[in-house]
Amino acid sequence: MEDKHMLMIPGPTPVPEKVLLAMAQHPIGHRSGDFSKIIAEINQGLKWLHQTKNEVLSLTVSGTGAMEAGIINFLSPGDRVLVGSNGKFSDRWAQISEAFGLKVEIISAEWGKPLDTEEFRTKLTADTNKEIKAVIITHSETSTGVLNDLETINKYVKEHGEALIIVDAVTSLGAYNVPIDEWGLDVVASGSQKGYMIPPGMGFVAVSDKAWKAYETAKLPRFYMDLGKYKKANAKDSTPFTPPVNLMYGLQASLQMMQREGLENIFARHERLTQATRAAVKALRLDLLAPDDCASTAATAVAPSSVDAEQIRGIMRKKYDIALAGGQDHLKGKIFRIGHLGFVSDRDILTAISCLEATLIELGYEDFASKAGVKAAAKVLA
Ligand SMILES: Cc1ncc(COP(=O)(O)O)c(C=O)c1O
Repeated sequence: MEDKHMLMIPGPTPVPEKVLLAMAQHPIGHRSGDFSKIIAEINQGLKWLHQTKNEVLSLTVSGTGAMEAGIINFLSPGDRVLVGSNGKFSDRWAQISEAFGLKVEIISAEWGKPLDTEEFRTKLTADTNKEIKAVIITHSETSTGVLNDLETINKYVKEHGEALIIVDAVTSLGAYNVPIDEWGLDVVASGSQKGYMIPPGMGFVAVSDKAWKAYETAKLPRFYMDLGKYKKANAKDSTPFTPPVNLMYGLQASLQMMQREGLENIFARHERLTQATRAAVKALRLDLLAPDDCASTAATAVAPSSVDAEQIRGIMRKKYDIALAGGQDHLKGKIFRIGHLGFVSDRDILTAISCLEATLIELGYEDFASKAGVKAAAKVLA
């Protein structure tokens, strides 16, 4: 059936109709007074969402572009950096850092496990000469559904005093509490197709005063993603280059929706959806990849042992028109991921879980009590 597609992947995420309609307009001139007013409203909304008084800069890039901007604006060739690596996207931090000639030290954990905060503490306290210029981590590791302990790692970075904390919050921003100013996070990168509830195409970078100081002396080459240009333009409710005008209509509408819901409610909804999904998966006697105490509120990774992950995804897509995400790199074929990020409600989870149960039955896997998944999810959602 047409137009019944249901996205249950951790990005791109579903887009509300109000946002789709807001984007379905003729673009206006990006240097016009009318567009300046939209930029001004968006910038206020972004500060609210990021819980910061500092500027949040909007770029026409995907999340990876925002990550790259987070490196090239604040560091210099040969700078020593600690990079946490426990999945596809945190590996990307290491790749970007290496591509720009930084001296990269990797603190790794098995995919599906969180980063060990003690390893960061040990490295940072041993660095009495203050050579480490940045600690770079992914908060919500979307490839495995693991939420890293950003708060604790950041505490050790603060004790170090010199290093910046650079964070990929691509799938935690708008899904989990990331109080940027309260925690003193220096550089926070995110992307539009996630908690923002708009399509792909925009990247965002929040920058602390300390990071702006580092910007003054940073020597990596930059031009299009020179954040100084964006900061200067922001002060005049403008952009340095042509922005994605229609996406920004959508962003204006989605930020209004988010502000009506309220940050606390948004975080509580994501937590509830996560717990409902995890309870259902357990009741269906399937294995969860990430432990309970470090579960990402963006995606739940399921590692079924006696039923094929790709067959599950295939039936969910063909028969029920529900898109689930697969595994990445060495987890390809071994896991599937249920996205519950952004414009997702209790009803969506119940729908996805009941279709998952039907799919499992079709595949001959009935190692669970009848309706066990739906019952477990409903109990959490009640
Ligand atoms: C945690 C995380 N970081 C970075 C990215 C990369 O973003 P993009 O594909 O928009 O470049 C993603 C995308 O899924 C992500 O989930």
